[in-house]
Amino acid sequence: MNNPSNTDTSLAEDPRIAEARMLIRQAVADHRSRIDRVRSPDNSQQEAYDQLLKQLGELRGGGLYYRYLGSGLGNGPLVELADGSVKYDMISGIGVHIYGHTHLGMIDELVQAAITDTVMQGNLQQNLDSLKLCDDLVRIARESGSALEHCFLSTSGATANENALKMMFQKKYPADRVLTFRNSFSGRTMALAQLTDRPKNREGLPTTLSVDYIPFFDNDHPVQSTNATLAALQEHLNRYPGNHAGMCLELIQGEGGYYSAPREFFIALFEALRECDIPIWIDEIQTFGRTSRLFAFQHLELDEYVDVVTLGKMSQVCATLFTEDLKARPGLISQTFTGATSSIRAARFILKQFCEGNYLGENGRNIQIHNRFVQHFERLHAENPSSIRGPWGIGGMVAFTVFDGSAERTKAFLNRLFEAGVIAFPAGAEPTRVRMLPPLLVMLDKDIDAVCGLIENVVTELTNA
Ligand SMILES: Cc1ncc(COP(=O)(O)O)c(C=O)c1O
Repeated sequence: MNNPSNTDTSLAEDPRIAEARMLIRQAVADHRSRIDRVRSPDNSQQEAYDQLLKQLGELRGGGLYYRYLGSGLGNGPLVELADGSVKYDMISGIGVHIYGHTHLGMIDELVQAAITDTVMQGNLQQNLDSLKLCDDLVRIARESGSALEHCFLSTSGATANENALKMMFQKKYPADRVLTFRNSFSGRTMALAQLTDRPKNREGLPTTLSVDYIPFFDNDHPVQSTNATLAALQEHLNRYPGNHAGMCLELIQGEGGYYSAPREFFIALFEALRECDIPIWIDEIQTFGRTSRLFAFQHLELDEYVDVVTLGKMSQVCATLFTEDLKARPGLISQTFTGATSSIRAARFILKQFCEGNYLGENGRNIQIHNRFVQHFERLHAENPSSIRGPWGIGGMVAFTVFDGSAERTKAFLNRLFEAGVIAFPAGAEPTRVRMLPPLLVMLDKDIDAVCGLIENVVTELTNA
């Protein structure tokens, strides 16, 4: 999409700005070059660092998962903490920093965003950047045949999901129930805490939404589990005929532990939903950009079935994409902010890297990165089957189970791994899994090898402990 011919680009093109951008790039490149390997914390900083962590925990009303306070500098997958340590960031803010840390191209985008007129863009006043981002997202989403036509931006995955939920309810009024998978995660608003299949997340909250859960695919019992899913669906449909406004689902369960299912499973389910005219909403907030295509529904070739898709995390700005049929009536959805100007530019920059680089496709970098991790994990598993096992996740959603998969041993493993220089995170329960969302745009093979070397050391240490 081009700018209208009378758009004034003279500020962006001013030679003084070009020179300033070049100087900033040079300065940043010089400083980030000192972050070139994993480093232990500086012991002389420990007391002050502990104090800062304690203060932050008190201010936010609860301690942090890790002793993590970034210094604001990194280099690709490496990040420096304020205690002087450097670690491999294999969780990237739970899937957000897909470009890694201190990315020169990204910083250049942010500098350009900083000289535009406003910090934030909102529904009342949006700049050309918002239009271009919506256009990019709809174009990519329709690339292989989906009927998604509209894009509504928002500042969190939860808001994107709330918007999807409202559109479906309005369309299917007076239906007042929603279907989802067991072990699903949808976000933390009052409604989404009900949709999320985790009792702890809604402890003490009133029931705001009526949800029916059906089992996800079980890789060990493909036929039986598909039948069980369809039977459970039918049971809910019989119990509440005509009362379901939609089904919300993740094609790869994220917080649930990084499990996926084959295309045939989803087709059987989607056909059953279609027969009852129940809209299909795919939550791609964690999966976006992490398979062989930008959308996991494209990776699984399910384009023809999607009615609503939500995305977030690595896209920096979140969005609800939907078909003409689900368009909301005026007044239903709006927010003051749709995103910071810098986030909107960052989103377009990331999409451009994916579309123009070699990240996507069956042999693209996303899949190569996955395969290299898996090679290491398979070797470790062969050497010591009880210490580490799969499934290993999919694409840029990498996972494994350590030891007995208990919450306690997994947490102990993660904490030791953090000390050793790799940041990962848990997902799922029984077993609790170790998951990684590596910064796919900057992961080199040598980084994967180094991370797996550190994982191996910690596995060996804890096996022998
Ligand atoms: C699948 C899925 N949906 C929704 C959300 C909520 O997104 P946010 O935390 O941006 O509100 C998440 C976050 O982890 C997620 O993984």
